[in-house]
Amino acid sequence: MRSKILYAILAFAQPIVGWGDVGHRTVGYLAQKYFTDQASQWVDNLLANENEYDISDAAVWADAVRYHRHYTEGWHFVDANDNPPESCGVNYKRDCVNGCVISAITNQTSIVLDHSQSTTVQTEALMYILHFIGDIHQPLHAEKLDRGGNEIKVCFDNRCSKENLHSIWDTDIIHKINGLKHTEKHNQEKDAAAKWASQLYSGNQEKGVTSTAEECDNIQDPESCSVQWATETNAYVCSYVLANGIDWLKNNDLGGDYYDGAVPIVESQISKAGLRLAAWVNALAAAAGSDSGFTVQRGRVDL
Ligand SMILES: *[C@@H]1O[C@H](CO)[C@@H](O)[C@H](O)[C@H]1NC(C)=O
Repeated sequence: MRSKILYAILAFAQPIVGWGDVGHRTVGYLAQKYFTDQASQWVDNLLANENEYDISDAAVWADAVRYHRHYTEGWHFVDANDNPPESCGVNYKRDCVNGCVISAITNQTSIVLDHSQSTTVQTEALMYILHFIGDIHQPLHAEKLDRGGNEIKVCFDNRCSKENLHSIWDTDIIHKINGLKHTEKHNQEKDAAAKWASQLYSGNQEKGVTSTAEECDNIQDPESCSVQWATETNAYVCSYVLANGIDWLKNNDLGGDYYDGAVPIVESQISKAGLRLAAWVNALAAAAGSDSGFTVQRGRVDL
């Protein structure tokens, strides 16, 4: 129960970071729709250790703990030292020197299947993975400039006081897509996320995307998949997020045309995050089930 109460307190106190709660919850609910039976079972067993956590509660947990586990703060993003909007790119050696979302996915992937770890640590590893595969799909979580846009003050639908470019990509755009007011209570966010996940799922079906088969799921070399995901995410920083330059962003309300252009990007990234997370969890559950001497490569950066 303690973690529940702590979470409730932190949920109200926290500044906005990472896809906001709705984004992360949606990634969790969407992934769940693509889980194999084995994966559903495996996830349920691990989350049974957390009081009444559904998949979406588990997917936002990492944001709640980051304020008392300061060492985890750098695990939510990768600071691409590129030069947007002229040139974008993620370079693992250059951008992940002290750890980043890519090395965090690698680390937690190896921990979640490691029987020498306590059940608590394995459960937490799963919850970190549910969160970080979401984060790695937010364009400004794969960008260093102005602390991932946190220092670029902007206006969104005439709100100018606390808004910055990072927070509108985390939260404002998503709330507007889902008809949510700027500040919503916990339950409304959950309901909105469940509904949005169903819509994104139907959208995938209509496009002929019916399984996770196309997604990278090499759990023995997590870096290769995560570098690919981060690179794809970061490319949006040049092609859209900062394409018009910082002055333009500061001088235009971003709730209009900019929002309209951002919607398909956000929908596509949340949708990809859900599919990829499902592919990952399905592969993890299969490995946990077969239990045949699992090893994760932890190659290029020391963990
Ligand atoms: C790996 O994860 C464990 C458990 O969360 C953590 O204690 C450790 O600091 C992590 N290591 C790195 C290098 O991120």
